[in-house]
Amino acid sequence: MEIIKVNASKEYEVVIGGGILPMLGKKCASLFGKSRAVIVTDSNVAPLWLEKAKESLANAGISPVEFVFPSGEESKSMKTLFELLEFMAENRLTRSDFAVALGGGVTGDMTGLAASLYLRGVPFVQVPTTLLAAVDSSVGGKTAVNLTAGKNLAGAFYQPSLVVCDTDTLSTLPESEFANGMAEVIKYGVIFDKELFDKVCGGNVKSKIESIIARCVELKRDVVAKDEFDKGERQLLNFGHTMAHSVEKCSNFEISHGSAVAIGMVIAAKASAKLGWSDEDCTDMIINANKNNNLPVKCDFKPRELADAALSDKKRSGGTINFVVPRVVGECYLQKIPVDVLYKIAEFAE
Ligand code: NAD
Ligand code: GLY
Repeated sequence: MEIIKVNASKEYEVVIGGGILPMLGKKCASLFGKSRAVIVTDSNVAPLWLEKAKESLANAGISPVEFVFPSGEESKSMKTLFELLEFMAENRLTRSDFAVALGGGVTGDMTGLAASLYLRGVPFVQVPTTLLAAVDSSVGGKTAVNLTAGKNLAGAFYQPSLVVCDTDTLSTLPESEFANGMAEVIKYGVIFDKELFDKVCGGNVKSKIESIIARCVELKRDVVAKDEFDKGERQLLNFGHTMAHSVEKCSNFEISHGSAVAIGMVIAAKASAKLGWSDEDCTDMIINANKNNNLPVKCDFKPRELADAALSDKKRSGGTINFVVPRVVGECYLQKIPVDVLYKIAEFAE
């Protein structure tokens, strides 16, 4: 088992290990006493892991109520958020009580936002059950729901009080969802850590997943400690994401976030090398890492479509964006570019 302490506007532990879900109740009781909790989870995760989580809380003297919503990105909406808030109020949860997000990034992002709003803020605990949530979304306090105009447009920075990552929950994850999480792992390697990249680029990572998750969480902890509110260095975590958001949008969200990030990283690496921004051409290394981890390396959308989508996404940020450039595998930097340069970058999608 690994315990990583995050030191942001709130200090909290991220506990990672196989079979640790039964510890959830005890950990929560030591933080919140014998209070009440709402467990929020989706319709796929509920039949698999909800009973275990409930039992763990109940054994520690915490009475849980459960809110189960239909799985999928469409549920990360104002509608479900509103239903969750109403549910918390109907169940008369107080400021001494807390929420538990049992699931992937959709569950975690929405529960965190509900916790930040309900009674002007109640604590919440992240229990990530996807690899993506374990390595990325459960840590760092970005919470949000989507609006019609785009993803994550209504949100808050609101840190959890605890993260309990039981790696056994990943055993029920479909392979395609595991691969989605690997895109974010590869991303951490390219941005910060060549050793991590080398460890995962050949695929076959399952036997070492606990140490991989722990390393990603350490890297995220460090960047969040320096730039919790995303003013600078934290934006490095967006490597591959500019074009990834376009790929997701152009596919009407049929292409998952992880697959889109995998494609976006290839485009970003190729463009950065060809435009002379990188010290080494990382493209082939990223392509191989993606392939070995069952991730795509390109999409069929036309460069103009991708750039138009990226531009409509970025209009709000004015005339320039911070584009993440890999200097070498293991080190990235932010390059301020005029938004029009996105058309040039998108050409490398072909
Ligand atoms: P998700 O929560 O939709 O989970 C993916 C799928 O896996 C769902 O169908 C879910 O029901 C299923 N699932 C979850 N755990 C399972 C398990 N153990 N066994 C079987 N099935 C399981 O999506 P995700 O990929 O975890 O997260 C994507 C979301 O995270 C996006 O909305 C994205 O915007 C957000 N995100 C947030 C941050 C952040 O910093 N807050 C970072 C990255 C991504
Ligand atoms: N997933 C990007 C961030 O947390 O900043």
